[in-house]
Formats: sequence, structure tokens, C-alpha cells
Amino acid sequence: MQCSWKAVILLALASIAIQYTAIRTLTSKPFQLCPLPSPQNCGLGGQETEPPFERGAAGGGGCDDYPYFSINATRKTHILVLATTRSGSSFVGQLLNQHQEVFYLFEPLYHVQTTLIPRLSHSRNAADRRVMLGASRDLLRSLYGCDLYFLESYIKPTPTNHTTDKLFRRGASRALCQQPVCDAFGPTDVNVEEGDCVKKCAALNMTLATEACREKRHVAIKIVRVPEIGDLRALVEDPRLNIKVIQLVRDPRGILSSRIETFRDTYRLWRIWRATGRRPYNLDLSQLTVVCEDFLSSVSTGLSHPYWLKGKYMLVRYEDLARNPLLKTKEIYDYLGLPMDKNVEDWIHANTRGSNETSAKHKFGTVRDSAANAESWRLKLSYDMVEYTQTVCQKVLHQLGYKAVKSVEELKNMSLSLVQDKTFLPFL
Ligand SMILES: *[C@@H]1O[C@H](CO)[C@@H](O)[C@H](O)[C@H]1NC(C)=O
Ligand SMILES: *[C@@H]1O[C@H](CO)[C@@H](O)[C@H](O)[C@H]1NC(C)=O
Ligand SMILES: *[C@@H]1O[C@H](CO)[C@@H](O)[C@H](O)[C@H]1NC(C)=O
Ligand SMILES: *[C@@H]1O[C@H](CO)[C@@H](O)[C@H](O)[C@H]1NC(C)=O
Ligand SMILES: *[C@@H]1O[C@H](CO)[C@@H](O)[C@H](O)[C@H]1NC(C)=O
Repeated sequence: MQCSWKAVILLALASIAIQYTAIRTLTSKPFQLCPLPSPQNCGLGGQETEPPFERGAAGGGGCDDYPYFSINATRKTHILVLATTRSGSSFVGQLLNQHQEVFYLFEPLYHVQTTLIPRLSHSRNAADRRVMLGASRDLLRSLYGCDLYFLESYIKPTPTNHTTDKLFRRGASRALCQQPVCDAFGPTDVNVEEGDCVKKCAALNMTLATEACREKRHVAIKIVRVPEIGDLRALVEDPRLNIKVIQLVRDPRGILSSRIETFRDTYRLWRIWRATGRRPYNLDLSQLTVVCEDFLSSVSTGLSHPYWLKGKYMLVRYEDLARNPLLKTKEIYDYLGLPMDKNVEDWIHANTRGSNETSAKHKFGTVRDSAANAESWRLKLSYDMVEYTQTVCQKVLHQLGYKAVKSVEELKNMSLSLVQDKTFLPFL
């Protein structure tokens, strides 16, 4: 993109709405609306209405570049894992990433956030949020169409010649660490470690990545930067897409504990609370309350079964997956309407209970021995932190079937699970 230096200047100077407009304008190709081949492919579940897009442009040039507008591509499943940080989303991502026919991307919205709102945690501005969400939906729409060039507008420094070594968590995406995208590993290297991929593969050629995406039958994307399902409605309802949402939730007490361990700077005051037994006066409580509020509104929406989510929504509790990974994964694949392949099964055997492997090198690395980990927060958080969480998250704990404890003894008695049996069936 020759205009990239202009983009940089604009990005530096302008408000984020203007930045986003700039990005849209400078993107190499305009976003095209091409006709759908037939209404029954559009995933609206028998609804008779014509899709609200122009139908006159048939045969117009350019549509071949957007495979999701073709007959085959509408049969693609566009899997969206809606999660929050430290809720076990890497684990769920891997369950999809390991599938032979799935092209998987790990949190592409990272680039949107870092470009548009470098300090999101300080931006509670509703307008900023709306722009960020609009940009996120546009990006997701393009990525589901395997238009990876669209992502380049958000990568810094801007890729030259469609090549970059700055794609966030590139190594988490199997297809981006394999031939033909990366030549460092042969077909026999089945389980390439994320770090090795980043170290050994040459800079990512976005053209090859795009081709790799098109080769796969399905696209799965994991995101942790969209607060709730309602924010995705426009995407879910887009007749050109065939979205299947997997909403991943986890006990907020577990999320808090895991974040305290992982994001040591951001959650420093919580660690002080844990260590001293006294809650710092300047603790940022929103670090906890936002999780619960977002879960509550998302789950309330999802479980109220609005028509626009019909056939497109499944709630998964991380703890259920951790307890019974194989069974739960089968349920997920049934919901997606895909056969679960042997790679996925092998990966589960190698990475969950009963596995010998102890190396959990990467801080975001997928949990090993997931079942034991799911409730280990009980041994890490102090009782008053737990009690506090139970107060501010009371509704969502109840809704999701996480039991509140009433004493330290109850908290620390691991022979008593706090995860109540509760079945969340996909909304069919
Ligand atoms: C659909 O896919 C099949 C095989 O995957 C291919 O042979 C065929 O040409 C494709 N049709 C269109 C319209 O792209
Ligand atoms: C991009 O490609 C052009 C033409 O192949 C080449 O002249 C240029 O040096 C390349 N730029 C970079 C940064 O590799
Ligand atoms: C990226 O891959 C494409 C397709 O193979 C190739 O034409 C192009 O030259 C590659 N780009 C670079 C910078 O190597
Ligand atoms: C554990 O490792 C040993 C030796 O490496 C191997 O023989 C055994 O099958 C492994 N057990 C499991 C459950 O993977
Ligand atoms: C832990 O809970 C179990 C089941 O309720 C109970 O039988 C046991 O006595 C408890 N252990 C302790 C140390 O309180």
C-alpha cells in the first residue's frame, strides 16, 4: 500500500473515528457486496426473505476474490469463539486449531485495539467503544472471507509487500506454521510449538496465508475483545456468513485468580490484597465487575433464545470441558455440524488429564491437566477475595451454576466441587 505513510500520520493525529475512516479508505479493495447464489445457503434457517443486499451486481468483476460469496463458500462454517482473557479460550481454540479442515486465528482483534485504542482500559468512552466494535465486526467479516490483507491496515509497522513478522500470536495458528506458508517444518512435524514457529518460520507472507485460509473448509476465530454477544448481532445476522458462536464462560473467581497470576502488572493491587489481607483503597474493581457484567448480559441474551441466534449459539463452561474434554468436544463438534477428526482427539489425549507432559512453557499456553486446574483457584485466592467476588458477581454465578461458598473450610475443601451439574444445550 503506497499510501501507508499517510495512514501512519493520520493514525498519529486523528481521533479514532477518523482513524478508522482512514483505514477503510486506504484499504486496498473496497468492501464488496456480491449476490448470494441462493437464499437457502444463507443460513437464515428457512426464512423466506431476500437478503438485504444488492442483487444486481451478478457477474461483476472482483467477486471471485471473495470466496465466501460463492456457492461453495457459503457452506463454510464461520466459527466464533467468544471469550474473555483467562477463561480457557486458548484451550478451546486448540480444539478447533487441531482440526484438519479448520483455519484458525488467535485474537486478530488485538491489532484493532492496539491501533485504534492503545489504552482501551482507560477508555470507557462509549463512542470509542462503538467504533472499536464496528471495526471489529468489519475485520471479522473480512477474515471469514479469508481476506487477510484487510488485517494489514491494523498491523504496525504496516506490512510491506504483504509480508509481516508482527502478526499477533501467529504461532498459535497451525496453518500459519505449516507448508506452504512456512517451510521450516515438514509434514511429519505435527505438533509445532508456538515459539518454535515464530522463531523458525520466515516472516509471514499474507498472500500465502490467504491461500491457506481458502484451502480450508472452515474458518475459526477466537476473540476476547468483544464484551458481549449482542455486539455481534450484525455479524451473526449477516446472510453472507454462516456464523456459529461458541460462548466460553468460566467461574469469575477462577478468571480473577488466573489473571492475578498472569497479568502481574495490571493486577498488582489484587496481589497486594491477597498478600496482606487488606484491600487497597485504589483497587480497580472494574477489572472484576466488567467480567461479570459482560457475562451476565451475554448469557442472558444467549439463553433467552432470540430468533437471530437460532442454530448459532452454544454456551460452554470451561469447567465442563476441563472435566470431560473428549465428551464436551464431541458436543461442540456436533453443534458445529462437523465431524471431529483424529487430530483433535489425539491433541486432547496429549494435553489433558493423564498426559505426562509437564511443560507449560508459555504463559498463555494451553492448560495441561485441565481438570485439576479448573478449580485450583480455590487454593490461591483468599477467602475475603472470594467473598467479595461472590457479592459483585452473585447473579452470574447463580446463572451459570457456580456455587458460592460460605466459609473458608468450604472454600478449601477440594473434595466438594463448586461447579454444579447444569446442562447448557446448544440453541437449535
Ligand atoms: C466447489 O468445490 C468443489 C470441490 O471442493 C469444486 O470442484 C467446485 O469447482 C467448487 N465450485 C465452485 C462454484 O466454486
Ligand atoms: C518489495 O518488493 C519490491 C519489488 O519486488 C522491492 O523492490 C522492494 O525492495 C520490496 N520491499 C521490501 C521492504 O522488501
Ligand atoms: C508471497 O507469496 C506469493 C505467492 O506464492 C508470491 O508470489 C510472493 O512473491 C511472496 N511474497 C514475498 C514478499 O515473498
Ligand atoms: C507416560 O510416559 C511414559 C514414558 O515416557 C509412557 O510410556 C506412557 O505411556 C506415558 N503415559 C501416558 C498416560 O501418556
Ligand atoms: C470436605 O467435604 C466432604 C464432603 O462434604 C466432607 O465429608 C469432609 O468432611 C470435608 N472435609 C473437611 C476437612 O472439612
